[in-house]
Amino acid sequence: MALRPLRFQDWEAVHEWARLEEACRFQPWGPDTPEETRSFVRGAVAAWDDGRYVHAAEIDGFVKGIGELRLGPHMQGEIAYGVHPELWGRGVGTGIARELLRIGFDELKLHRIWGTCDPRNVASGRVMQKLGMTCEGRMRHNLLIRDGWRDSDLYAILDHEWVAAASGVTQLDATD
Ligand SMILES: CC(C)(COP(=O)(O)OP(=O)(O)OC[C@H]1O[C@@H](n2cnc3c(N)ncnc32)[C@H](O)[C@@H]1OP(=O)(O)O)[C@@H](O)C(=O)NCCC(=O)NCCS
Repeated sequence: MALRPLRFQDWEAVHEWARLEEACRFQPWGPDTPEETRSFVRGAVAAWDDGRYVHAAEIDGFVKGIGELRLGPHMQGEIAYGVHPELWGRGVGTGIARELLRIGFDELKLHRIWGTCDPRNVASGRVMQKLGMTCEGRMRHNLLIRDGWRDSDLYAILDHEWVAAASGVTQLDATD
């Protein structure tokens, strides 16, 4: 799995999962029409220069996932990720999130990186736990999605925790 900047031509590959109910079950968007996916990808590509780094995750030359690192003030960044359901449970999501943390801490020298997920989204929560991120709390009813108000668990990791994990002081799940 390798991350590279998302390109507009990737929209058809992204649409292969953005059109699926299971891929956006806990999200405020979707399932997307082709025009909605094109609009998302167009916006994501244009946002690179504004510090919203949306990457395509390529596996064997095919785009099968997406990983976003969005810069904020105070040397903070937010991560988000998605994987084609046909590959769920094979470590791809964890690999994408790990690479986003590496870029954020090792290349961009961020101090804190955070992410959120619906508490019902067990896989997304596991991704962040496996990478040593701490659950800092639960935001109640912060998003309105198709089936009503959604809570969000907030996970974060600090730069020294990332360094400790990378040096083996803290044991991360290294199976992915
Ligand atoms: C969240 C998501 C990216 C995880 O991708 P993935 O490639 O399946 O993740 P991994 O294979 O690295 O699995 C991570 C953990 O979640 C678990 N997991 C995967 N799918 C699961 C599921 N449907 N239910 C419960 N646990 C699941 C895995 O077993 C693994 O935990 P383990 O190592 O303790 O066994 C993927 O489910 C997805 O794209 N969901 C839709 C978009 C989304 O919710 N994005 C996150 C919001 S920012």
